[in-house]
Amino acid sequence: MNTLLDNLNWRYATKKFDSSKKVSSENLNTLLEASRLTASSYGLQPYHIYVIENADIRTQLRKASYDQPQITDASHIIVLANKPTFDGTMIDDYIQNIMAIRGLSKDDLEGFSQTMKSTLLDLPDTQKNLWTSNQAYIVLGNLITVAAEIGIDTCPMEGFDKEQYNEILGLSDKGLNAAVVLAVGYRSSEDETQNYPKVRYSKEQIITHI
Ligand SMILES: Cc1cc2nc3c(=O)[nH]c(=O)nc-3n(C[C@H](O)[C@H](O)[C@H](O)COP(=O)(O)O)c2cc1C
Repeated sequence: MNTLLDNLNWRYATKKFDSSKKVSSENLNTLLEASRLTASSYGLQPYHIYVIENADIRTQLRKASYDQPQITDASHIIVLANKPTFDGTMIDDYIQNIMAIRGLSKDDLEGFSQTMKSTLLDLPDTQKNLWTSNQAYIVLGNLITVAAEIGIDTCPMEGFDKEQYNEILGLSDKGLNAAVVLAVGYRSSEDETQNYPKVRYSKEQIITHI
């Protein structure tokens, strides 16, 4: 059986997907559950996860992604959309969810609610956007690793026009912003990139034990 490190060495940012191969609904469900189970600051999950299969939409998204072929050729496209701004409602909704799931009262959670509000609500929108986008990137990292563990190829992608994505997917109207994209599927045997040795700094260069 492959170890986690074998799988992380196996994975690479896939440039050419085999468009005839589809990720099964069971594997897709594993990926989406891994997204949902990803840790986030305070547990707020300030993002929404879009799974795009529709061919017409993907043709439009490819044009908004510097014509990168992964957008149309991968099995599925996952768009991680962060909340570029938010108010106390986002925190109140989260508190309601904790109350329902853990059977707690509003009073039980008042301190936690105030901590989140005092830390987050006065941030300028640029900081709110950065913070929620950072949370979405944690989902991205988790997805890449989980996909590798179950033998699914991915390409994380920042090479796209956010404004155009927001327009095509109707994200702005929902208070969302396209943060980062993950193409998922299966590598084409013709993708030469899979044979390239990994370029990484050595442990000595990048890790310091203190
Ligand atoms: C946030 C992020 C954005 C990326 N954007 C793109 C992209 O738009 N197109 C692409 O082909 N690769 C993209 N990559 C892939 C990186 O170039 C690749 O992960 C890196 O060179 C390391 O190689 P490896 O993933 O194959 O090991 C992106 C990677 C990350 C993590």
